[in-house]
Amino acid sequence: MNSLEGKKYNIITFGCQMNEHDSETISGMLREKGCVEVPDKEESDITIINTCSIRENADKRFFGTLGQLKKLKKKNPDYIACVCGCMMQQQHIIDTVKEKYPWVDIIFGTHNIHRFPELLENVYNEKQKVMEILEDREEIVEGLPSKRLYRHKAFVNIMYGCNNFCTYCIVPYTRGREKSRKPDDIIDEVKRLVADDVKEVTLLGQNVNSYKGENTDGSICDFADLIYRLNDIDGLERIRFMTSHPKDLSDKLIQAFVDCRKLCNYIHLPVQSGSSSVLKKMNRKYTREQYLELVRKLRAAVPDITISTDIIVGFPGETEEEFEETLSLVKEVCYDSAFTFLYSVRKGTPAAEYEDQIPEDVKHERFNRLVDLINEGSAAKNALYEGRTEKVLVEGMSKKNDDTLTGRTEGFKLVDFEGDKDMIGQIVDVEILHGRTFSLTGRIK
Ligand code: SAH
Ligand code: SF4
Ligand code: F3S
Repeated sequence: MNSLEGKKYNIITFGCQMNEHDSETISGMLREKGCVEVPDKEESDITIINTCSIRENADKRFFGTLGQLKKLKKKNPDYIACVCGCMMQQQHIIDTVKEKYPWVDIIFGTHNIHRFPELLENVYNEKQKVMEILEDREEIVEGLPSKRLYRHKAFVNIMYGCNNFCTYCIVPYTRGREKSRKPDDIIDEVKRLVADDVKEVTLLGQNVNSYKGENTDGSICDFADLIYRLNDIDGLERIRFMTSHPKDLSDKLIQAFVDCRKLCNYIHLPVQSGSSSVLKKMNRKYTREQYLELVRKLRAAVPDITISTDIIVGFPGETEEEFEETLSLVKEVCYDSAFTFLYSVRKGTPAAEYEDQIPEDVKHERFNRLVDLINEGSAAKNALYEGRTEKVLVEGMSKKNDDTLTGRTEGFKLVDFEGDKDMIGQIVDVEILHGRTFSLTGRIK
């Protein structure tokens, strides 16, 4: 008998879209077993914490949440606490969990989420804890179910892992080496999603520009080829992707923006630093000048393209002058938006061993200057939208206001406007009335 039938589960997800999508898969698998998702961990029989290890505060939030599960276990002896995700790919974290959080029943990693329902059944049937962390493998498991967070938009993994070993980053250690899915598998998945009301797909990979999928005849499909093929799928309206590493962004991909109507005019192009010497120490494999040249080429090909980025402040050894080069690059590019991070030491990465770590107060002071400049740029960019009409995919009701809808423009800008909930899932014309720092407001045309 299926021991999972009727069990209530709750998933807490930290981290990036990869993790969000893994949680959608875990949710899909549990639903197939007859489990029911509940919004609150207090009501659940099973809690799964899907962890992220990208910065230290992600680790801290995880341990805080894990502490809260102890009382749920006390209240209900059949309650099952599970942890998975990037943190579990690190031995020192597993040791800490086992030693300090003995109420955890299941630990699994990023390479074996497909095994989770079986592990869970074993725990129910045999009343024993399990830990299963698989080594990185060549094989990609296809055909797993997924319970989407949004009805009309979906994440689609096109590749797994990362080969770049930026010196600050933990991801190559937690997600293993790069592996690309076959283009036919991706296309079949997207067709199935479209048949299930999906209008927009976001293709996921740590560096989608290095995608190399094998065609049935053994030839290679690169990332731009994949976009052209997806662009031909009837019923699909929008294609996005993330993340694109500047070192591998090809002219062919820039041309795809021009040729493919469905490819949204938006790119997230993480720069990390505006200083070539810092970029070298980060092992990013491009210079400031090469990055600026890419931006120039993108804007020449697609004049209204929106660009966002990631920036790390206070990488070991970063001088005031090097930081000012980041400020000047930000001014020059004038990003639509940017995610900024304080450099965080990650155990096991090369930069963690660098001796010239930057004091916290210096990092914070630089961070604040950078955020002010970025916000100024975003506000100026968004103000330019006032009076324009934008195509907006309506995503849902606004959290703040009952009769307000919220959606995204092709350029990934958030827009709030009044409207009826029947419009959710449609692409509508919205006249932009106000451009604010972080979003736009408008009215239906
Ligand atoms: N693969 C993507 C990034 C994934 S991680 C890329 O290469 O662009 C998302 C962002 O987290 C990175 O772009 C970087 O800005 C930030 N990040 C990664 N490691 C970090 C660290 N140790 N400290 C601070 N920020 C970090
Ligand atoms: Fe991390 Fe660099 Fe890989 Fe991005 S490309 S996941 S920043 S190692
Ligand atoms: Fe975090 Fe892992 Fe993503 S470390 S950012 S969840 S790949």
